[in-house]
Amino acid sequence: MMVVRTVAELRAALRPHRTAQHSIALVPTMGALHEGHLSLIRHARAHDGVVAVSLFLNPSQFNERSDLERYPRNERRDAALAEAAGADLLFAPSVEEVYPPGFATSVEVLGLTERFEGAARGSEHFRGVTTVVTKLLCMALPDVTYFGQKDAQQVVVIRRLVEDLNLPVRIEALPTVREPDGLAMSSRNALLSAEERHRALAIPAALDAARERVIAGERAASTLVEAGVARLHASGIEPEYVSLVDPDTLEPIDTLTGAGLLVLAARVGHVRLIDNAVLVPQGAPNPRRPLPGKALA
Ligand code: PAF
Repeated sequence: MMVVRTVAELRAALRPHRTAQHSIALVPTMGALHEGHLSLIRHARAHDGVVAVSLFLNPSQFNERSDLERYPRNERRDAALAEAAGADLLFAPSVEEVYPPGFATSVEVLGLTERFEGAARGSEHFRGVTTVVTKLLCMALPDVTYFGQKDAQQVVVIRRLVEDLNLPVRIEALPTVREPDGLAMSSRNALLSAEERHRALAIPAALDAARERVIAGERAASTLVEAGVARLHASGIEPEYVSLVDPDTLEPIDTLTGAGLLVLAARVGHVRLIDNAVLVPQGAPNPRRPLPGKALA
């Protein structure tokens, strides 16, 4: 695997693949790679001609400095994992390479970014994400870029961005990778104490509680949300939000008639965790753009 640090080196490394019309895949990451990232890299390896992984801890998407400072950094470990998963190229730029002196442009997606994670983390969060993702797409010019469905709102926002700016790239969201006990993989899980780690299982259990209600025939969003909240309360967790929304627009829905996205955020101790599930009632038409999720039998 080749490691490059500048945009010029990245473009030079990708040029022969573009000329040979290989499908160029980009997996954007901020490092601290876990099985969730590795599944994206492996998927790209299996489906694309060349696999570039970006490793850039983007300061502009952190509204709390302490969060940025606590973020685990270990390039050597990340590089070894990316290579073992099948990456051909690691793009690990400096902050100055991405944001050179005089940098003055930002990319903002309105509306979709104002609720849920945008409301909780401040407008800088998504502005930072959309600006850096636009930059990474312009730097690498990939054919396809892979994201994890765990950050469901991020995926919806990036799809909007790509559509609005006519960026010639396919955005693919791959299913959330979970620990054997159901907890969604996240670099934040390492910050949980043993007791908190155990209590955090209430989060996937809350999604399951809503899913089971759908299987039993429930369609009212308020009841499905209540089922999730009750499961969290049973473990002493007060959610920041639990909401059933349209998977494309993130607008709240009252009744589940097609696919619905159940989004959830909660603090367990000091660690803020997010998760989501796509709920599809039996007999509902397939979503226009299927999101990976469990179809309910
Ligand atoms: O999901 C992430 O890790 C980041 O938000 C991303 C997409 C790499 C942008 O910094």
